[in-house]
Amino acid sequence: CQELELKNVALTAGEKLKVKGEILHDAERFQIDLGCDPEDLALHFNPRFHDDADGAVLVCNSKTGGCWGDEKREIDNPLCFHIYNVYTFDMFEVELPDGQEVQFPNRAGMDVITYIRITGDFKLTSFKIC
Ligand code: GAL
Repeated sequence: CQELELKNVALTAGEKLKVKGEILHDAERFQIDLGCDPEDLALHFNPRFHDDADGAVLVCNSKTGGCWGDEKREIDNPLCFHIYNVYTFDMFEVELPDGQEVQFPNRAGMDVITYIRITGDFKLTSFKIC
């Protein structure tokens, strides 16, 4: 399993992150984390394919001082996507290739994203901040 971890980035409101890749065969989960450090995340975007409670589900959450917030679960979302456009603003908007959009509030009010991590059963092929 591959991992991309970036520190000292400066992603601000209106900027867009484009992530492309392939979900690995027999994937369990992967995640795209945006925040200031591993313990403080404004967005944890976590598709799961065999979740104990919900099976295939998209879990989004935030983390403050190492503590997870309340999860937001999207059960109806098809999880066969492979492109993400993440906008940073008051609301994170994640565009999926099938045209669906997932929203998650910037609960922590983080103005600048300085830490990005992509890890799990996902083969990253392209990553771009635009
Ligand atoms: C936990 C899991 C973490 C993270 C979190 C999101 O159960 O261990 O990796 O996904 O849920 O709420």
